[in-house]
Amino acid sequence: MSEKISSVHYINYLSLDKILDAQSPLSGEGKDAAHEEMLFIIIHQTYELWFKQIIHEINSVMDLFKDEKIDEKNVGVVVSRMDRVNKIMSTLIGQLEILETMTSLDFLDFRDQLSPASGFQSHQFRKLEVMLGLKIKKRHQFGGCPYHAQFEGKKKKEILELEDNYSLFNVVENWLERIPFLNIDEFDFTKKYDSAVKEMLNKEIEGIKTATLTDSDREIRIRMIEENKKYFERVLSEEEHNKAIENRETNLSYKATMSALLINLYRDEPILHLPYQFLRSLIELDHKIASWRFRHVQMVEKMLGQKIGTGGSSGQGYLKETVDKHKIFTDLANISTLMISRSYLPQLPQNIKDSLGFNYTK
Ligand code: HEM
Repeated sequence: MSEKISSVHYINYLSLDKILDAQSPLSGEGKDAAHEEMLFIIIHQTYELWFKQIIHEINSVMDLFKDEKIDEKNVGVVVSRMDRVNKIMSTLIGQLEILETMTSLDFLDFRDQLSPASGFQSHQFRKLEVMLGLKIKKRHQFGGCPYHAQFEGKKKKEILELEDNYSLFNVVENWLERIPFLNIDEFDFTKKYDSAVKEMLNKEIEGIKTATLTDSDREIRIRMIEENKKYFERVLSEEEHNKAIENRETNLSYKATMSALLINLYRDEPILHLPYQFLRSLIELDHKIASWRFRHVQMVEKMLGQKIGTGGSSGQGYLKETVDKHKIFTDLANISTLMISRSYLPQLPQNIKDSLGFNYTK
């Protein structure tokens, strides 16, 4: 394509000859070619490049978090890398609009030629899912065939190794378990939080008792709060929590959940700002991937209706199942159920406050 250039130049630095020569429409060349196939190829290639960047960022985040003791300044780096990943994800969601300028009739001009190729065979997408923590037993399967049956040789080996490795979910869980704030000096967080919740719910019951309500309305509302009490009791009991893990109703360990709760409740303390932002960025990533999945389903609906996929799945039926089921950090998002207003938040003893804040502001 270009003349040979010896010094570093835009063209060779970016390997543009390779990238720009890498579009080979199967529908043919010149006027025989299906016009839309170029867009179809370029958009998939663009996705794969962004997947590469996301994997690069997630790998670095996992690296920074794997040490027993995390250097505090690395938490800021991790937060900014997660922010970048989330911005890329927003672009990936937006890009589907470009592909939707192709109609289902345009797609049929070349669809048969690309079968049985499918996004289902995207090795980087699978790598990313597994690295984040979507392990095989959590997946929605189809046709009794594991997802990695799509790969062979080195590619398959790499996926199987990732399945056995620590994921971002595991790294985050370990980090949360190591956070030392749950029990400092005389301050036992879980106990304090438990009494704050009881105080809050009892006050709500008192309020209902004195409100102008019909007897049956009053009874229903009190019953709802009693149910709520039981919910909190279940969440705070380590034994019940472990049962929920066994029953696959939850994944995050008890200790990690309590730490995440503490970070969420005391997010105003300076030392917890970045950990809180990090937890938020994980929920954000889960939501962005789910949004991408959902927008992809909508696009598939427009292009294929009820047709089956070229990868052999039921098409949109299969894809819809993955939107919620393949989320990784739902337990972190569910922490919001446990929030109580600042007015009920147990006061931190001054010595703990000092160790969590900037002492020089005193
Ligand atoms: C005309 C456009 C598209 C159609 C009709 C389409 C259709 C499908 C279908 C039916 C599946 C389910 C597997 C199968 O049976 O093939 C699938 C999976 C997938 N597609 Fe697409 N797709 C399109 C564009 C894209 C684009 C632009 C990407 C970007 C990388 C993409 C990535 C994926 C991925 C990663 C999966 C696997 C999802 C999973 O298993 O959770 N697809 N696609």
